Amino acid sequence: MTDVSPLIDCDAGRVSIDDKAMLNARADVNQLLPLKYRWAWEKYLAACSNHWMPTEVSMQADIALWRSRDGLTEDERVMLKRNLGFFATAESLVANNLVLAVYQRITNPECRQYLLRQAFEEAVHTHTFQYICESLGLVEGELFNMYREVPSITAKDAWALKYTRGLENAADDQDFLRDLVAFYVVFEGMWFYTGFAQILSLGRRNKMVGIAEQYQYILRDESIHLNFGIDCINQIKIENPHLWTPEFADEVRGMLIEACELEVAYARDTMPRGMLGLSAELCEQYMHFITDRRAQQIGLAPIFGASENPFPWMSEAMDLKKEKNFFETRVTEYQTGGSLDWD
Ligand SMILES: [Fe+2]
Ligand SMILES: [Fe+2]
Repeated sequence: MTDVSPLIDCDAGRVSIDDKAMLNARADVNQLLPLKYRWAWEKYLAACSNHWMPTEVSMQADIALWRSRDGLTEDERVMLKRNLGFFATAESLVANNLVLAVYQRITNPECRQYLLRQAFEEAVHTHTFQYICESLGLVEGELFNMYREVPSITAKDAWALKYTRGLENAADDQDFLRDLVAFYVVFEGMWFYTGFAQILSLGRRNKMVGIAEQYQYILRDESIHLNFGIDCINQIKIENPHLWTPEFADEVRGMLIEACELEVAYARDTMPRGMLGLSAELCEQYMHFITDRRAQQIGLAPIFGASENPFPWMSEAMDLKKEKNFFETRVTEYQTGGSLDWD
């Protein structure tokens, strides 16, 4: 018989909830039960109920509009291409950070269960941009290389990449907290939102309704990603109060301010002249509102004092149950049968 003792400690006691922790846990990471963080498990269940695939959304109307001479203005075309160009690689950057850094550092099995689901969703999101590219006949190299060619996109991605430090041996728990703020709060929680507002605004005017519907599903997924990230950060703060020093809180506040500035530059770059119902100025106001909300969610004071949301319809767009007639396409309240009845 093979001697398993060096691989499995058979004398270790059963897992106790008190030994489970977000970081550096003593408990076996292979044992899901007993659950300690019900919020993580509930997000896993909610995410599974939201399953969707981009290829289930018809692109016929979008293809016709994209090919027509006067269906979209030149400004709308520039915005659309740069918007898609940002997301096409952003989804991969997020996925890589998740799998290569976050998964390694988080030592709790129910959180890892959610991370596995999130990683799949990021693959679905990247697939969405492949599907859009193919459907509209966009130039692949132009779309997927935009993060190297459009300076406002390069600036955002370069900013985020410096926080992917989970793989470095020297990285400590505070470096990892910075990574969580950069990717969950900034990347997924701030930088995706200008892009969502741009496309959903087109959709509200009955333009590119297929892409708008896909963005609505992505937004639904991303709002859970963001909330999971916020819960992780706050739980780590509770368990490791020594990490969240006043200096560190100031640094995080500075990160949010920088991220907001980068996003405002991106909005100007994608919409140099504005379009119906949308402009770089409105996006700036919106980003101030979003930045304040994110600051509060991780326990910081608001930065801009922006109490007004210039796009109130964005919060409606997140609640798909109320959105059945939003784009007058098909029913968007789209959930898989998570609770089959076997009686
Ligand atoms: Fe995503
Ligand atoms: Fe995400």
